[in-house]
Amino acid sequence: MRAAAFDSVDNPSAIEIVDRPEPTPERGEAVVRVKAAALNHRDLWKVKDDRLEEDDLPFVPGADLAGTVVRTGQGVTHVSEGSRVVLCPISTCGTCRFCRDGPENMCERYSSYDGAFAEQARVKADRLVELPESVDFVTAAALPVSYMTAFRMFERGDVSAGDLVFVPGVTGGVGVAVVQLASYLGVETIGTSTSAEKLSRVEAEGLDHAIRTADAGEMRAAVGSLGDVDVTINHLAGPYTHVGTKVLGRDGVMVVCGRTAGRMSEFDAQDLYFGHKRILGSTLGTQPDLEKLVGLVENGQLDPLVDRTYPLAETARAFEEMDSRDVVGKLVVRPQER
Ligand SMILES: NC(=O)c1ccc[n+]([C@@H]2O[C@H](COP(=O)([O-])OP(=O)(O)OC[C@H]3O[C@@H](n4cnc5c(N)ncnc54)[C@H](OP(=O)(O)O)[C@@H]3O)[C@@H](O)[C@H]2O)c1
Ligand SMILES: [Zn+2]
Repeated sequence: MRAAAFDSVDNPSAIEIVDRPEPTPERGEAVVRVKAAALNHRDLWKVKDDRLEEDDLPFVPGADLAGTVVRTGQGVTHVSEGSRVVLCPISTCGTCRFCRDGPENMCERYSSYDGAFAEQARVKADRLVELPESVDFVTAAALPVSYMTAFRMFERGDVSAGDLVFVPGVTGGVGVAVVQLASYLGVETIGTSTSAEKLSRVEAEGLDHAIRTADAGEMRAAVGSLGDVDVTINHLAGPYTHVGTKVLGRDGVMVVCGRTAGRMSEFDAQDLYFGHKRILGSTLGTQPDLEKLVGLVENGQLDPLVDRTYPLAETARAFEEMDSRDVVGKLVVRPQER
């Protein structure tokens, strides 16, 4: 079977198509024929952030996959050959206090899946969520990383109807997921981008206030003129952490899940303590979160935004386009397409 693999530890465009033996499931595992696999910025970090060693190459990335089960190992009962599924891409120990008491994404030995950009993927069967017939594979593959993360950040930030939510960098996977979930919940959103064209496409998904700038000072003034923000969803970090806390109202909260614009950030300590503001970290979400998201799609309450799809052979182009910020929402690879 074919897979798309990173072939360099420092060049995300160096992706080759490799031939691999068809995987055999071990006890508790299933093999999925991957019909759709979505890109996430996390995949780029594997290459850009020295997380890969030469010995890991070629490395098949990808956490988000949907498809049909083709083989199951011993002890697997809840899915069988032909089941239509999406993978919850988290791996947990099952025994730590967070696995026992929840939420499971806080597991002390948490990790996330890699290997989606392949014709077949071997996964833990109990991490597969069955898909209703009405939910197509491309839509399902768009859900896990971006939408589970956004969903859980809303939980962490206690976002509710009537709140004002601010997302610096609103046009990507997490940004659009926040806007769509906010729209469903009756939450007002402010989002930024460097591109007027991309902003107008996110406005069509429900974004209430679009601000075209990447300049932190301009952003702070423009957001501040719209009122006190209740929750900042921060996947950029860098200079946007300072902006994200400054625009919060009293007792407001900034939830951080990423650092595309820089790992180290500053905030104004005095503004934080006089304003009783909070900063929280958050990573991915739980399997019940994914099940709820699939339910929202099934009921027509959520329609993840997929910008473009690619055959497996064009996975490198898909990553180049994500890296050059030429995307609104999600990019999805279809490994079964030639
Ligand atoms: N912890 C977790 O569980 C988790 C889960 C999901 C994502 N993340 C992290 O969250 C971040 C976003 O992920 P994603 O998949 O949504 O990425 P993405 O789709 O690539 O995000 C694109 C957005 O980021 C903006 N952007 C990109 N580079 C920027 C820069 N240098 N300065 C300012 N804005 C920039 C873009 O702005 P323009 O519109 O101006 O192009 C666009 O709005 C990543 O760092 C990712 O690793 C973490
Ligand atoms: Zn655990």
